[in-house]
Amino acid sequence: MALIPAAIIGKKRDGLALSKEEINAFIAGFCKGEIPEYQMAALAMAIFFQSMDAAETSFLTEAMLRSGECLRRIHPTVMRVGKHSTGGLGDKTSLILAPLLACFPVHVPKLSGRGLGITGGTLDKLESIPDYRTNLTQSEIEKQLSDVGCVITGATGNIVPADKKLYALRDVTATVPSIPLIASSIMSKKLAESLDALVLDVKFGTGAFMANQEQAQILADCMINIGKHMGVATDAILSDMNQPLGKAVGNACEVNEALDVLRGSGPADVTDLVLQLCAKILVLAKQFPSVEIARSELQTQLHNGSALERFERMVMAQGGKLPSPVLPTAPAHPLLSVQRGRIVGIDGQKLGLAVIQLGGGRKVAHDSIDPSVGLIMEKRLGEAIERDEPLLQILATSQTAQDVTPLLQSAFTIV
Ligand code: URA
Repeated sequence: MALIPAAIIGKKRDGLALSKEEINAFIAGFCKGEIPEYQMAALAMAIFFQSMDAAETSFLTEAMLRSGECLRRIHPTVMRVGKHSTGGLGDKTSLILAPLLACFPVHVPKLSGRGLGITGGTLDKLESIPDYRTNLTQSEIEKQLSDVGCVITGATGNIVPADKKLYALRDVTATVPSIPLIASSIMSKKLAESLDALVLDVKFGTGAFMANQEQAQILADCMINIGKHMGVATDAILSDMNQPLGKAVGNACEVNEALDVLRGSGPADVTDLVLQLCAKILVLAKQFPSVEIARSELQTQLHNGSALERFERMVMAQGGKLPSPVLPTAPAHPLLSVQRGRIVGIDGQKLGLAVIQLGGGRKVAHDSIDPSVGLIMEKRLGEAIERDEPLLQILATSQTAQDVTPLLQSAFTIV
């Protein structure tokens, strides 16, 4: 995954002075095939270099959203809430957040994606559960929201077709790293969930899309602005991805860690991030007057087993069979530190590449995934380590574990 070059973010630009009508006509024409790809590529390039102002970015998002269908609302009085994360290593928050929120009188219709690049996708993680379906229809989504309150599935057939076409073009014209293009791409898909409240988790650091906090803030502000323009209560938190979230990085192992959090015994950083996001969402959705009150109610639902039960109901409703107590994973091989010292750097890009090399992620879109492989972090940033003490466990066959060992060793800076 390409990190966004600081030069592209930092420059002040004035936008393109495009009207709403011009943007609508361009996107509609592109989707119908009346505007050829070379002209759309030229516009993407113009946006990449000149940026767009806030109004243009909102109009672009709206035009993309209108290119397809949105999820229907069958319970207009029940608040619909959502979360989007810009993706980080070991980020399994959606698996916990959706059932936890569904313990309250809100609906959580989550359309998730697959992993491409170093960060995993929620659908791939859930598909490590035997028979879990990620291709629900609109009617199945509606029924499940009524019965369970939450659903995590792939986008149905005709959600934001403009983004599919435009993203493919951005990919081959190297125009992915542009804030208005990223923000409109993400927000058009989130707004298709027909939400009342949305919280964005914008990640920064070595294991994230945005390299630093300043860039993450610019992207967050841009997306909040779009949400508000579209009448959705939107807020964001920035979260540090200079090391994986939690201990598990992979697919089955991340589901197992999410289950640990739902059982009240997961890693503190994952639990805390989930509680922060959920509390903000419930306040935005007017369920509680403050994040402190929301957080304490959420903790109760997490610790009394209600959120776990909701997760099991969601999995069952989507055809999945959760083996007890955990999903099987590949054998663990320790990666031993070659020196004594303190861990001052963990390169998330390298850890993510190692997981792909093990077969836990994709090099190209049609690659299949081995859900059993991954990494279990043993040490965190700032911790002391002895020579021959494990930095992490590699879940893989012994040959593939050996193959990724040099790459994984180089991911740690120890002084
Ligand atoms: N994720 C998206 O959905 N779109 C982008 O442009 C970048 C990340």
